[in-house]
Amino acid sequence: MAKTKTFYQCQACGHSTPRWMGKCPDCGQWNTLVEEKEPRGGSRKLNAGPGAVPQPLSSVREQETERTSTLIGEFDRVLGGGIVTGSVVLIGGDPGIGKSTLLLQAMAKLEGPVLYVSGEESPEQIKLRADRMGLTSDSIMLMPETSLESVLLAASDMQPSALVLDSIQTMRTEELDSAPGSVGQVRDCAAKAMFYAKSSGVPAFIIGHVTKDGAIAGPRVLEHIVDTVLYFEGDRGHSYRILRTVKNRFGPTNEIGVFEMSDQGLRGIENPSEMFLSERPEGVAGSVVIASIEGTRPVLVELQALVSQTGFGVPRRTSIGMDHQRVSLLVAVLEKLGGMQLSGMDIFTNVVGGLKLVEPALDMGVILALTSSLREKPIPPDLIAFGEVGLSGEIRAVSQAETRLKEAAKIGFKRAIIPKNNAERVPAIKGIEVIGVSNISEALEAAGL
Ligand code: TYD
Ligand code: MG
Repeated sequence: MAKTKTFYQCQACGHSTPRWMGKCPDCGQWNTLVEEKEPRGGSRKLNAGPGAVPQPLSSVREQETERTSTLIGEFDRVLGGGIVTGSVVLIGGDPGIGKSTLLLQAMAKLEGPVLYVSGEESPEQIKLRADRMGLTSDSIMLMPETSLESVLLAASDMQPSALVLDSIQTMRTEELDSAPGSVGQVRDCAAKAMFYAKSSGVPAFIIGHVTKDGAIAGPRVLEHIVDTVLYFEGDRGHSYRILRTVKNRFGPTNEIGVFEMSDQGLRGIENPSEMFLSERPEGVAGSVVIASIEGTRPVLVELQALVSQTGFGVPRRTSIGMDHQRVSLLVAVLEKLGGMQLSGMDIFTNVVGGLKLVEPALDMGVILALTSSLREKPIPPDLIAFGEVGLSGEIRAVSQAETRLKEAAKIGFKRAIIPKNNAERVPAIKGIEVIGVSNISEALEAAGL
């Protein structure tokens, strides 16, 4: 294949040089030069030939997106209802979290042939894994390959029902000299896969490892290219895996799919609330259940706090599964308005089950768990809470109160501490008593703290 001329461009200031350099000679930043292709034939003409024709918005007809079910309910959910024809889905996550496992399982159930390109594992290794998971599928065609050109050639021959690139960091295009995994390679390979998917209608799945250091290009550089971005949350130490929709051109974002890693691969969990609460200790201080909304589904999770006297030196503050800044803010509110002495204390907070919560509705849970731990008073086990806490200690309303309460009632909770504004508007829900509160002291009192 003829080499395209390439050059290196600084991603920070746009300066370009013919050679790679560690430091941009123009802006002085390190590691910002990325290999780029020179546009073919010099200056590019924009859409010469029969291009798109403008049309009135009102005359645009709705198009039914064609979707294929993966037959894995939790995977369909994060995709927005199934695989969309010609879409490109990025699946990111730490190495070893289950990306290959999930795709192998999903692809085995599709009507074939599925072109599964692996630059990481040999066909024998993949076969071994498929056997272990009890997958007997004739639909998967394995291709151990790293050249994207060869992959696309094979794909246009085979006309598969889906294409999997495992992983994007092992793929390279022959048009660039840089190593697989570099920003230029990762971006260019993804763009080519995208072009292939759009022109052929074949859906493509791109697996990308998230890397902690910037040396190897992470999937983040692809987020704006692809249609859908799914990230695995949770760590390898747990058996739970949460797959979250970060971006989706064909469905809602923030949707979560919950799985459990078993001997036979990933198993979808349809009722995550029950799972997240299954190991909840009763009668222990510092634990509270909150009702959160993840995407379109309510999820009950246990929130834990541990407040203890600092033994030596600077107090430690650690938050797992929630925003550290947010917790600091809530600690400050408790000190100032709740009159609690927290400055000499180590404070740990944790969302049980590896879920990452970003909703303000968890504020109320943090306040209750911290106070419960500090005062060593357990929160009644049949109680749930949600609500946003403002800087002056006021409790603010959150969205979808009714959905949250219904989930709590379904799981068997008897009382809910929620923002007064929400309480005044929700209809009565059978089996659950709603206590509306307007500031943190009312909340603490309602929880018996
Ligand atoms: P994998 O899908 O290879 O991770 P990734 O592609 O994201 O790097 O997952 C590998 C891990 O999952 C590995 O630690 C073994 C474990 N595993 C199971 O526990 N059960 C199974 O059935 C399979 C296939 C893997
Ligand atoms: Mg893998």
